[in-house]
Amino acid sequence: MQMGIKGRVALVGGASRGLGLAVARGLAAEGCDLALCARGEEKLSKVAQQIADDYGVKVFAQPVDLAERGAAADFAQAAARELGGVDILVNNAGGPPTGVFLDLDEEAWRKAVELTLLSAQAMTRVLLPAMMDKGWGRVVNMTSVSVKQPLAGLILSNSIRAAVVGWAKTLADEVGTSGVTVNNVLPGWMLTERVDQLLKHRAETGGISRDEALANAVEAIPMKRLGQPEEFADLVVFLASERAGYITGVSYLIDGGLNRGLT
Ligand SMILES: NC(=O)c1ccc[n+]([C@@H]2O[C@H](COP(=O)([O-])OP(=O)(O)OC[C@H]3O[C@@H](n4cnc5c(N)ncnc54)[C@H](OP(=O)(O)O)[C@@H]3O)[C@@H](O)[C@H]2O)c1
Repeated sequence: MQMGIKGRVALVGGASRGLGLAVARGLAAEGCDLALCARGEEKLSKVAQQIADDYGVKVFAQPVDLAERGAAADFAQAAARELGGVDILVNNAGGPPTGVFLDLDEEAWRKAVELTLLSAQAMTRVLLPAMMDKGWGRVVNMTSVSVKQPLAGLILSNSIRAAVVGWAKTLADEVGTSGVTVNNVLPGWMLTERVDQLLKHRAETGGISRDEALANAVEAIPMKRLGQPEEFADLVVFLASERAGYITGVSYLIDGGLNRGLT
């Protein structure tokens, strides 16, 4: 299937490793120029150079902390300026910290809202008007299976990602006739550093080894394995593509069957 996005420009947040990096590579493989960010400059500039070399696309990379107020909007503006606009926006960042309600103060909630909800809104606010003027655009929000079924020890993520989905569904309605689609992707357990940290947290809090925590996680997945970042990237690339033009306001699980809901 031809994705039809060669020459489009995509902005991918949190793109120096894990799911964001896999998505960036997937979009570059389809011929998209890229704007990438992450906090760590060294790793980011290394992957940006690798992607440019591997796929022959333009890559604009900037170290950004998306949890800092104003940083997401500034980065989106810089990306549009450097690359002549942005057609595809993939809202992604690191996940909020683990913890239970009584361990997290109000400041932790404010930071997590800034990172997970407000940064996505800020980049969308900057980039959406030009997408609408062009009559073509894609917004894909990376959330989590937790918006269908809360995960233990992840109260920040469980709560704030649900707000992202509510915002995105409403936005999809608001821009329905514009040629811009807005969708969410909901990963279950994909094998990245973030998941490794979560497994260690479960091991510590449950008094078990990391391998036992992994075995427990896998046991609950009908496919009996974790997902690969590249499998996740394929879904995002499709939603970002020309071919997905009639799909909007939808949340797609990619979880090996983990979620137990019927729909
Ligand atoms: N992997 C899964 O199975 C899974 C499942 C459900 C949900 N998710 C969610 O999907 C997202 C990506 O997950 P992942 O597994 O790819 O995570 P990851 O391996 O921890 O990678 C996160 C990426 O985002 C960057 N990042 C982190 N904090 C940032 C910040 N404040 N500002 C800008 N960039 C930031 C990181 O680079 P720096 O550290 O250098 O900034 C890195 O490039 C996370 O929100 C995660 O919670 C993942």
